[in-house]
Amino acid sequence: MSASVISGKAIAAARRATLALRVTELKTSGVNPGLAVVIVGEDPASEVYVRNKEKACVETGIYSEKIEMPTTTKQEELLAVVQELNGRDEIDGILVQFPLPDHLDEDAVIEAIRVDKDVDGFHPESIGRLVVGKETFVSCTPAGVMVLLEESGMSLEGKHVVVVGRSNNVGKPAALLCLEQHATVTICHSRTQDLGAQVASADVVIVAVGRPEMVKGDWIKNGAVVIDVGINRLPDGRLVGDVEYEVAKERAAAITPVPGGVGPMTVAMLMENTVKAAVRHAGIE
Ligand code: GUN
Repeated sequence: MSASVISGKAIAAARRATLALRVTELKTSGVNPGLAVVIVGEDPASEVYVRNKEKACVETGIYSEKIEMPTTTKQEELLAVVQELNGRDEIDGILVQFPLPDHLDEDAVIEAIRVDKDVDGFHPESIGRLVVGKETFVSCTPAGVMVLLEESGMSLEGKHVVVVGRSNNVGKPAALLCLEQHATVTICHSRTQDLGAQVASADVVIVAVGRPEMVKGDWIKNGAVVIDVGINRLPDGRLVGDVEYEVAKERAAAITPVPGGVGPMTVAMLMENTVKAAVRHAGIE
């Protein structure tokens, strides 16, 4: 069997188009969604991500502001910028691009962002609400993963989902979201014994470890759905995911490519979260 390829790129484009219509409609009622993106330092990957976010804002009609701060920025200076954005009505969502330079405390920055502007869904209160199944901002990458799973057509109810990776921003929320949809969920990580056996028992595999082709294609159960969150650049310049794609594709029922899978979805979900924040701020939903 050769898997159907779940094109995050196409699905994200379709969602952005739908969202652009919604934004046009909101603007006629005086609601102008606004996103502030703060970037500290000159990490090249972060610069690319931030540029993609700005482009998506333009495409969907969302007002965006980029605040660039030097690598030497002090913690108090960054917190002061966040506080200022917290207080501005035209800014519905705030995203501070990570990673921050080493001397800055990411947790303190996350906690400084007003929860109703936490479009990244990283604030402990946002995550806590997710844990107890309450309405919240869901962090954009796992939110995108769930859209892709829905597009694969597989119902998660009663299925075994194996999440490889236990990060706060991807692995843990993805596991909770699958649990919410009545899957049986296993979270694997670097200390898991016999990872191959765990993956082989999965109907759905979600991998977010940041290690090139760490999940071997022949571990994948025939007919499984594979969502690869990883994006790794090899020394020869190629971009690969965390899953050995070419082999996995011959066994899976559906699989996300890298690039063009989860990556574009993350940005699309950020746009959706920003519009959700604006709608809430306007008190119309
Ligand atoms: N760095 C890489 N991905 C993300 C993300 O989704 N949000 C933030 N704030 N930083 C990131």
